[in-house]
Amino acid sequence: MAHISGFHRLSPDERRQALLSVCASETLHALVDSETAIPLAEYDRMTENVIGTFRLPLSAVTAVLVNGIAHPAAMVTEEPSVVAAANAATALFERCGGVRAELMKPVTSAQIVLSAEDPVQAFDACAYLEAMRMRWLETANACDPKLVAVGGGAFDITFECIRRAGDKHTFIIARLDVHTADIMGANAVNTMAEAILDAIATEIASWRPDASVEKLMAILTNAAPGRLVRASVRLPFKHLDGYRKHVPGHLLAHKIELASRFAAASPERAVTHNKGILNGILAAAIPLGQDTRAIAASALDHACRSGTHKPLSDWSVSEDSLLGVLTMPIVAGSVGAMRHALPTIAAAFDFDKIHSYEDLCALLSALGLAQNFAALAALVTDGIQQGHMKLHRRKRDL
Ligand code: MEV
Repeated sequence: MAHISGFHRLSPDERRQALLSVCASETLHALVDSETAIPLAEYDRMTENVIGTFRLPLSAVTAVLVNGIAHPAAMVTEEPSVVAAANAATALFERCGGVRAELMKPVTSAQIVLSAEDPVQAFDACAYLEAMRMRWLETANACDPKLVAVGGGAFDITFECIRRAGDKHTFIIARLDVHTADIMGANAVNTMAEAILDAIATEIASWRPDASVEKLMAILTNAAPGRLVRASVRLPFKHLDGYRKHVPGHLLAHKIELASRFAAASPERAVTHNKGILNGILAAAIPLGQDTRAIAASALDHACRSGTHKPLSDWSVSEDSLLGVLTMPIVAGSVGAMRHALPTIAAAFDFDKIHSYEDLCALLSALGLAQNFAALAALVTDGIQQGHMKLHRRKRDL
């Protein structure tokens, strides 16, 4: 068991001491203490108009067992109960053998967009540009030889025209697909897309100097069906016994299954169900310097793909166990400038024992699944307020 039992009952100082059994003291020091030592100038390089830094509580979950690796997880959130829920659920998951996570070779796509007043010209241009696919892929890959060298790079580009009834303009859209290897890929893909937009505009100008085709924009899409992660867990009833006081495991499992069915039946509930999943993922993504808005945008897009909001996870009873499966895109990166933007971010990677893109997605998805399980377990038993109120009482006592 890698979980440190009773961790939540310790003081912050005692917790740091206890964590030395799962991580090196330099890592912990860099994660927890270095903030005061980072010069403001470093923050000033990260964004604009910097006037200081802003702190939120940094918490830890001691072991998230996924794909056989026990990851400690640093979590940042302003919301009470999120970390307690992650802690309890990941301890339970560990007793049940942990989470299994599988993922796709990550693809990020971009839209390169031109507009034309004459629809015939737009369709002609589309066909003309499509015939030069290899040239656009070469243009893209010339922007990032490093990505190509590690096995990534642009591998497909397709063209289409869109014209909405009543609109004056037809849009010519080139959709570029890029294998992003271990990087999140926003900068790399946007650079490629802009280079293609310029090259296409130049080509069109020499093909038909009088054409009404104009550049509009080039930008990645946060829809990320090429970055799906599937995390699953099997929780035998015997391990669920007592997870919620006085509730037998089989009863808890059946109620959670019903809660999952309800989320699938009610889009209004699915939104909240998915928000609970994001609670876990985003709290762990913040200290890792990830683009939390991109993670949320792609997750919500995936949830709505059928035309209505659907839950990202599913819980079902099978024989003597509750099975949980979370399927969603996770837009993240384990290498790149972001990792070295601040020493605390690099330290969070070390603390979380993330050595690869696979580790990163596995950890985040396992936390999403754990958070979802904990929320449903609370909702179908004592309700969510009890945990919240406990924390409010603690605050009053301070
Ligand atoms: C609160 O931040 C998250 C929950 O509402 C999630 C859920 O209802 O499943 C508790």
